[in-house]
Amino acid sequence: MLNAIGQDMNDMQRAIDIVRAGGLVAFPTETVYGLGADATNDLAVARIFEAKQRPHFNPLIAHVTDVEEAFALAEFPAAALTLAAKFWPGPLTLVLPRQAGCAVSLLASAGLPSIALRVPQHPLALELIRASGRPIVAPSANPSGKISPTTADHVREGLGEKVAMILDGGPCAVGLESTVVSLLDDAPRLLRAGGLPRDMIEDVLGRKLQGPANGPLHAPGQLASHYAPRAQMRLNATQWQDGEARLGFSAMDAPLNLSRSGNLVEAAANLFAMLHQLDGQGAALIAVAPIPDISLGEAINDRLRRAAAPRA
Ligand code: TXA
Ligand code: MG
Repeated sequence: MLNAIGQDMNDMQRAIDIVRAGGLVAFPTETVYGLGADATNDLAVARIFEAKQRPHFNPLIAHVTDVEEAFALAEFPAAALTLAAKFWPGPLTLVLPRQAGCAVSLLASAGLPSIALRVPQHPLALELIRASGRPIVAPSANPSGKISPTTADHVREGLGEKVAMILDGGPCAVGLESTVVSLLDDAPRLLRAGGLPRDMIEDVLGRKLQGPANGPLHAPGQLASHYAPRAQMRLNATQWQDGEARLGFSAMDAPLNLSRSGNLVEAAANLFAMLHQLDGQGAALIAVAPIPDISLGEAINDRLRRAAAPRA
């Protein structure tokens, strides 16, 4: 039987039961698929690091259904209230001081005094969090360092048996992870470009976003090599060369084109799915057309640079 949002109720009930029992459920958000677990259960959180082979120093985002729930977990300076009111639910993660008595496992914060919070904009994600009755930690549902998943099939290919269940919500609308902004000191800082463009945040705050503060404590997840396909990558290709797989953009055309009309929203939504597809074809080298470094192009170029970086 289907519920109001078209999901098989038995699937949703099973997902809720798994989360409550400390298991892992992959679920759709508007950005990418997340690998979810009960944020308040240390063992469940540890299972996420294990399944993804994720380094323990890289903390997780806790997902909640609204800002009131977030108040119990973190302190909200004025700028955080402004951003949450404007952009939640949506592709924005706020890094804030942990509230005294915060129920989220310290493992999820990787031992830091801060916590990353987000309200996702997807009915299945919101229903899973609400009905489980607890915050859900969820990194992108891919093996650490690999391309992020924007369909249930990507999750299946990447994590297979390691996830008890995948809630299938079809392809993700945004296609890039959330923008991560830290509000731990006086300067709002952009820790990760993502699905919410920088200029929209700066407009609402009335000031520029700074870069990450120095030191691993402030931007623990910014690993040079990430989102890596098996293939090597050649970026900013202005001519195609023989023998390489091609990812076009705008007039720099190819059978797979991120957006023939040069639309960055469309390009973001296509990026990971097209990288998965080209990589699946077994190419040794993927060449990518230049993407303008404005608006969502900043996050697209960030992902492409990390995909092209030398692998550890
Ligand atoms: O769109 C998204 O954000 C997706 C969906 C599932 O919500 N999740 C996601 O999670 O991309 P993940 O784990 O792949 O990326 C989380 C990012 C990492 O760069 C991590 O280092 C950063 O957020 N982060 C988490 N907690 C932090 C903290 N306390 N301080 C600084 N950075 C933090
Ligand atoms: Mg990730």
